[in-house]
Parts: sequence; C-alpha cells; structure tokens
Amino acid sequence: METPYEIRSLFISSSPFLLIPFIVAIAALIWALWKPRPLDTIPTIGPSCPLSSYIGALQFMFRGREMLQEGYQRFYDGGMFKVPILDRWMVVLVGKKLSEELRSAPEDVFSLDQALMLHLDFVFSKKVYLNPIHTTLMKTKMSKTIGVLTPAMYDECIQAFEQHMPLDESKEWKAVPCLATGRQISTIVNNRIIVGYPLCCEPEFINLNLRFIVDMFQCRMLIVGRLVTNIPSEIAVGRRLLKPVLDEHSKILEESDSDWSALPNDMLSWLMASVPKDETLDTMTRRILGVNVAAIHTISHTFTHSLLYLAANQELITPIRQEVEKAVAEDGWTKNAMGKLYLLDSFLKEVLRFNGTQAWSLNRIALKDFTFSDSTFIPKGTSIAACATPVHMDPSVYPEPEKFDAYWFYRMMQRDGEANQHLVVKTSLEYLPFGHGSHACQGRFFAANQLKLMIGHLLLNYDIELETPGVVPQQIWFEAAVLPHQTANILYRKRQS
Ligand code: HEM
Repeated sequence: METPYEIRSLFISSSPFLLIPFIVAIAALIWALWKPRPLDTIPTIGPSCPLSSYIGALQFMFRGREMLQEGYQRFYDGGMFKVPILDRWMVVLVGKKLSEELRSAPEDVFSLDQALMLHLDFVFSKKVYLNPIHTTLMKTKMSKTIGVLTPAMYDECIQAFEQHMPLDESKEWKAVPCLATGRQISTIVNNRIIVGYPLCCEPEFINLNLRFIVDMFQCRMLIVGRLVTNIPSEIAVGRRLLKPVLDEHSKILEESDSDWSALPNDMLSWLMASVPKDETLDTMTRRILGVNVAAIHTISHTFTHSLLYLAANQELITPIRQEVEKAVAEDGWTKNAMGKLYLLDSFLKEVLRFNGTQAWSLNRIALKDFTFSDSTFIPKGTSIAACATPVHMDPSVYPEPEKFDAYWFYRMMQRDGEANQHLVVKTSLEYLPFGHGSHACQGRFFAANQLKLMIGHLLLNYDIELETPGVVPQQIWFEAAVLPHQTANILYRKRQS
C-alpha cells in the first residue's frame, strides 16, 4: 500500500496536465454539494451543510419531536423551516395561514398520494398504485357500510379477545404485552371486513400483515433496503393464502348466476366487483395488503395507547363503563350505540391529541413549483407538511396542554350543545391526527367505531392495570412518528365489580 509520503511524491513527479482531471473532479464534487439550491432560503433546524445534514438526519431520528418543537417556537408567528431526513429535506409549515394554503392547494400541486407512495412503487406495483381502487373503496363503500358491518365486527371482537386475553374466574392479574396483543386483536377485527371469516383469524395471515408493514417502512427508509427485502416473499405468502378464498368467491358467483349480493360483505368481494377484468391474484394481494397498511397500524397503535392511558387513569373506567352499558342496553352493539359514547369519544380524542401517529400532518409532495403567500418558493419534488404535535401542545390552543384531560372535549360537547363539532372525527387546523380538508383520513369514522367497540367490550368484561400503577409507559418517538411503548405489559383479569 502507498504511504501518504509516496502519494505526495506521485503528485510532485506527475505532469501538471495529469492533475487536471483530478482537480476538475474535486471541483465538480464541491459544486454538486455546495451549489445554491432553492431550499437554501428556508431556515434549517439542525446542521444545514450538505455533509453535516446527514448528522442532522440522524439527530432527527431520535430528537424529531424536539426539533419540530424548536422550529415551531422559532417561527411561532407563521413561517416555515426544514429538517433533514435521510434521503431528502422536509419543509414544515408553522401557523394557520400557510397550513391552510397547503391544505387547500389542489392535488396536482401538492399530492398526498405521491407522498404516501414515495419509494413504495415496487411494493405495490404500477398497476395498483396508478389505479388505487382499494383506496376509493375505503373512502366510499367501507365508510358507508359501517352500520351494516358493526355486528360482524363485534362478533369478531369477542372471539379475538377470548383468544388473546382469555378470562377465568381467578382474581389474580395475568400479564400480556400490550402492543403485541393490541395489534393481534385490532388486525383480526379489522380483517373481518377486509377479507372476511375465517381468513381474518388465521394466525399466518394476521402475522403476515403485521410483518409486511414493518418491512415496507424499512424499504421506504433505507431505499437500498429493497435489495434485501422480504416483501416479494411476503406477497407470495399473501397470494397463497388469498387464492382459496378468491376461488371460493368465484364459485359462489358461478353458482348464483353472478349474483354479487351472494358474496360476503367485505373488501375482498367489493374489490372483485370493481377491479379491471385483467386483474391478477398478485395485484389483488397487493391491494389487500395495502388496505391493511392504511387500517391496522393506525388503529392498533391508538388502541394500545388507549389501554395504557385507561389503566393509568383508573378513575376513568367506571364512568366510561356506565356510558357503554347504557348505550348498549338501549341499542345493542351497533353503530347507533357507539355514536352515543361521548365520554369515550372525548377520551379517544385526547389520546390522539397526545399520540397522533405523526408529529406533522398534511404530508404532501409538490408536483409543481409553488410560491406561498409569504413569498417562499417551493420547487417541484419538495416534501412538505404542517406542524401537528406542536399545535396540539400549544397552550394558546389547549390550556395546560401537557395535562391529559379525558373530559376536555366532553365538556366542550356539553357546553355549546353542538356535540358533533367536538367529536374525534371532527378535524381542524388545531386538531390534526387525521389530517384536515378534502384528504382528511377517510377511514376515521370506521376507526372511531371500531375503537369504541373494542374498548367498550374490554371495559365491560375486564379489569386492567399497569405493572407500575398510575404511570403510562413512555411512548417512542422516531423521526416524526410516535409509537406506543414496545414491550410494556398490561395486566388483566375478569371484571370484579
Ligand atoms: C386511528 C386511526 C387512524 C389515523 C390516526 C389515521 C390517520 C390518517 C392521516 C393523518 C391521513 C392523511 C390525511 C392528510 O394528510 O390530510 C390519513 C389518510 C387516509 N386514511 Fe387514515 N387513519 C386512521 C385509520 C384509518 C382506517 C381504519 C382506514 C381505512 C379503513 C384509513 C384510510 C385512510 C385513507 C384511504 C386515507 C387517504 C385519504 C385520501 O387520500 O383522501 N385510515 N389517515
């Protein structure tokens, strides 16, 4: 190997002309790294130099929440800043004026679909993401049929709890991992109306969906991750599990003279009725996995956070139980009954104020150049979002924002007599866990109904407690995402009173 001294003598002894390509290459590298870019005018939180921004991206992984809070405070009167993530910059808006401009911009200027699909084209394939019928069905059919689907979901709820939190007569507490159990129960209940019974409670199918989300996010974060990803083998497992169900559906159609109403009322049947004729088992599988990605992570995390907050705030259990008992006595386990659970709704809304899935919202990609009213220029291709958690923790919006108050929204519902204006599904620029505007989460009505079914069933049948009573196990912040504690146990036993 050449020593530094030998390298130096190589340069000295070379003809100056031989050095020219070397100097040009260095100059080109410096230019590529330091050339002026349109986003340079937007202030950075964390290091902003081309190379040190990678250190900033690492910082953002572990201090994302604090960095967003810092940006929010610096530009409190309205403005924007950027934070580095591994493969790009994220521009983050502060203040209602600019957030409203982002929210109301048309889809061909700022796109949610493109932001959701970033780096995921290979997971879902062009045919699926250019024709997202499954997303349309989630927005239309799924939300509209909540009432019809609720009894089947409740039926599955009973089975899923019985399987993962079995009860006996003992007064002793039993421990189960809260997140892992919450994920299993939520995914089973959800899939009752995605793929129907019995695939919805097939452990191989449930675990496939739970692994798929994790692997998908890994590919998205580490773009090179797609070289060593499990996604293709997971899609193969999905095809194997879905094929007999699809064959069965086709047989029912044949025997009923193409009477679509003879099929079970679930996403799989709706998809069969809606996809193009040349749809394959492969694309159908990707669609079903995609629906699960939208539905199960969000619901299961919210369910887990909710259990931990309820267990830590035992004084909430009796009033919420009484509310559920009254509604169910009047209307059974129906959408109507779930609509009467105002205190539970207020509790869920407070859980999501503290633990919305992301610290930012209105996540978009610019499909065209755009200039905001404060004259900031955003070039095509920029990732952009609006602050969410900092707004949820702003004392001028929510007095004593750090205090968990399950009655906060309940009091608002009672105070002005317009309960619907304060429900968890009601979005605004001050309440952003479901986004806001025309792209606000279309599954939120469905999610609220399912969460109330699961929590209602739990409270009517179980006592719950934490290993350290009164202390909610610390959530995990990763970049802008908030996750429930990964391993904390929940203690449970049959309801004693
Ligand atoms: C607690 C549960 C949930 C949370 C916190 C949540 C959160 C969100 C958020 C933040 C967005 C983006 C909104 C925006 O940027 O403006 C979104 C979009 C969406 N969500 Fe949810 N979601 C939940 C449950 C669900 C469920 C259960 C489904 C399906 C059944 C679903 C389907 C969708 C769809 C289809 C969109 C895209 C809407 C569009 O393109 O217009 N979500 N969700």
